[in-house]
Amino acid sequence: MRPAMRRLNHCYNVADLRSAARRRLPRGVFDYLDKGTEDQLSLQNNRHALESLKLLQRVLADVSDVQPACELLGGAASMPLAIAPTGIAGLCWYKGELELARAAARAGVPFTLATGSNTPMEEIAESAGGRLWFQLYMWRKRSLSYDLVRRAAAAGFEALIWTVDIPYRPNREHDRRNGFYSPYKLNLRSAADSLCHPRWLASVLARYLATTGMPRHANFPPEYQRRFTSNVTHANELRADQLSWEDVARLRDIWPGKLIIKGIMREEDACRAVACGVDGIVVSNHGGRNLDSAPATLEVLPGIAAAVGGKATVLVDSGIRRGSDIAKCLALGAKGVLAGRATLYGVAAGGQAGAGLALDILREELRRTMAYVGCQRVGDLGSDALWRPAQPRSAFTHS
Ligand SMILES: Cc1cc2nc3c(=O)[nH]c(=O)nc-3n(C[C@H](O)[C@H](O)[C@H](O)COP(=O)(O)O)c2cc1C
Repeated sequence: MRPAMRRLNHCYNVADLRSAARRRLPRGVFDYLDKGTEDQLSLQNNRHALESLKLLQRVLADVSDVQPACELLGGAASMPLAIAPTGIAGLCWYKGELELARAAARAGVPFTLATGSNTPMEEIAESAGGRLWFQLYMWRKRSLSYDLVRRAAAAGFEALIWTVDIPYRPNREHDRRNGFYSPYKLNLRSAADSLCHPRWLASVLARYLATTGMPRHANFPPEYQRRFTSNVTHANELRADQLSWEDVARLRDIWPGKLIIKGIMREEDACRAVACGVDGIVVSNHGGRNLDSAPATLEVLPGIAAAVGGKATVLVDSGIRRGSDIAKCLALGAKGVLAGRATLYGVAAGGQAGAGLALDILREELRRTMAYVGCQRVGDLGSDALWRPAQPRSAFTHS
């Protein structure tokens, strides 16, 4: 049996996949994937909110035909989940984005390719199959981003997710400590880190070096593509600090498919996005990776879902590790979730098979949760699946 398969045999949940990923990846890569920003407050808030919300079992309900499958943004999905854009899969596994995309296609959920990925979008579109979404960062030099959008449309991507929550470079101190920073610098610590992970060195880095060379941002315009080790930056052209709501309208004009805006945390921003004609929004704090001290997405979700009022599809992410987390998000008004780290841990532990295992685990956990709360269809998951503490009765109340 291949070592990756042996590793996966002992993974029963996403936390097990995380442990397997941690063993296989150099610390710099693992910390980049796993951690949040600064004091990790937003990261903790996300998990705390999900763990604190309780579900209430319903008994003696017919749950002989529980189906997590649903419609998600105009297409079929085997569960209300899509793989979130993450620009790091290609360092977790050789051609990791392709492995993730194939796992998603096989599992019947959409896959989102990140702007910063290492595999060209055309290669993903040709080889992966399944439902493909493309994630966009809009740069100061708009024309560069519009070219990307046109490329994605020509390659057949069905939805465009525009991520709007990085107006300034996030402060991830662990990455600087580990030397995992752009440009990547080989210092004593990062060299020792890589040498202590020979399987990763041989199966990921050495394979790139023997084929296409050091990984690069394969979807950037050619003049801005640079290797992770390059000192040349194009910081000014690629900054996202002069954007406005007019950019949404402009994107709406040039993108023919579903348009989704990601990184919404305020009700008024959600309403503005809807007024600009988006098809969906993702309530997201970027998995706690950008603004520390942000509320959990679960805390702002109900207000945003109510404000949007069905005029666009509300998705949510940040912290999904269990199928029960998906059920909780749906009960609070989301139509679906994005999973970032859960499937990254999977791909880092075992390529396509690992990512597929993460998806299978989440789907089965969701199915089990639905059975316990007495829902056969995801559309039936509403606030009555949640337990709310009874209001304490006032000592002065007379009945
Ligand atoms: C390692 C990593 C890289 C990411 N890269 C991107 C990216 O390139 N574009 C983007 O829109 N979001 C990116 N994200 C954020 C995810 O799309 C998503 O919002 C987040 O991972 C959800 O939280 P979760 O990881 O707890 O599921 C990244 C997240 C991680 C963990």
